[in-house]
Amino acid sequence: MQLYNDFFGRFGGRYVAEVLRKPLDELEQSFIAAMSNEGFLSELEYLQKTYIGRPTPLMFAENASNILGGSKIYIKMEGLANTGAHKINNALGQALLAKKMGKSRIIAETGAGQHGVATASVCARLGLDCTVYMGEVDMARQRPNVYLMEMFGAQVVPVSSGSRTLKDAVNEALRDWASSWDTTHYLIGSALGPSPFPDMVREFQSVIGKELVKQIEENVKEDVEALVACVGGGSNSIGFFAPFIEQERPALVGVEAGGRGLGNGEHAARMTGCGVEGIVQGYKSMFLLDSDGQVLPTHSISAGLDYPGIGPQLAHLGETGRVIFTRATDKEALEALRFFARHEGVIFALESAHAGAAAIKLAKEGSPDKAIIVNMSGRGDKDIFITAKIIDGNRWRDFLLSEAGDA
Ligand SMILES: Cc1ncc(COP(=O)(O)O)c(C=O)c1O
Repeated sequence: MQLYNDFFGRFGGRYVAEVLRKPLDELEQSFIAAMSNEGFLSELEYLQKTYIGRPTPLMFAENASNILGGSKIYIKMEGLANTGAHKINNALGQALLAKKMGKSRIIAETGAGQHGVATASVCARLGLDCTVYMGEVDMARQRPNVYLMEMFGAQVVPVSSGSRTLKDAVNEALRDWASSWDTTHYLIGSALGPSPFPDMVREFQSVIGKELVKQIEENVKEDVEALVACVGGGSNSIGFFAPFIEQERPALVGVEAGGRGLGNGEHAARMTGCGVEGIVQGYKSMFLLDSDGQVLPTHSISAGLDYPGIGPQLAHLGETGRVIFTRATDKEALEALRFFARHEGVIFALESAHAGAAAIKLAKEGSPDKAIIVNMSGRGDKDIFITAKIIDGNRWRDFLLSEAGDA
């Protein structure tokens, strides 16, 4: 197995300041050694089972499939993992690796907060110090996750530079790492950044796809025509797709945030029309940039999909046609969330609901002897402060006001 790539086609690389070369070299060597070390792999597997709760189930969405009348829909229930999303797979793998490397402190960046919560929780479990950088805007809109991170003992550092969102938090984390790497590991939250991060994150997330291979053999009678996953930076999708990339089928479908439309600042559609090649935060990929090469603002109803770049392997797979990219709007994601909640009793995270929306469209075009498998990368508990306002309107507002009044 090829574990280490500098480049995926023309994307990837390690475009960093000289000061970060040594920690990246050290990380690459430790990672390659760990992936063939029986002790490391069995400890990881033990924690995946007993702490994350793996394997996550593959559920046949029977009611949804009957209503849609086309291809059968199956849902990989990644949201049932501890802390509520796939982010924990990568956080656990990297934190365990850092501990083996003798590091005592972890730093991370977070946008939606889900990666920060996953990182803070594994640090508590493994006894590591944890600092999470988070843009002030994201802290305000994801306050419940800030509360959880602090409950796990992490220090959440507000970032007030730039647009005060994820990309600014990444800059702060990189700055910290440049002066602290002898004791500290920078735990990147998606399949991006300078190498070896894209390979490492894919490998730790590929547990999702490896389970799926077995579950298809055991439980899926139909011919699997497509795997569908949402794409922010790309960690849940690349992990879900990983064992299938070298095959010709099934189709691999990545779903981006179509937001409110394709105007500047209204979406995060990097692979479906608006991205350009660039080098940002240590790697070459497709980004949303203005004509001066500056990163453009983004929007999505889901805080986890509004990143202006995409992991380099996915950019390459998009360019070669192995991954087909599409997008879902805020409105379509909300409709999918309601559809699966109403008919299957599961609440998709807003990010994953984008994949749900694309799966609904694909299923309608297919036939009942085919199957579409959608990755529910997370569950929607974290989003209730956004969704309830839209779905439940004033009653929710009144509830929040009365709770605040009691405090
Ligand atoms: C539930 C969920 N799904 C998807 C994503 C998007 O990230 P990625 O593309 O790395 O899977 C996030 C990011 O926060 C998330 O919380």
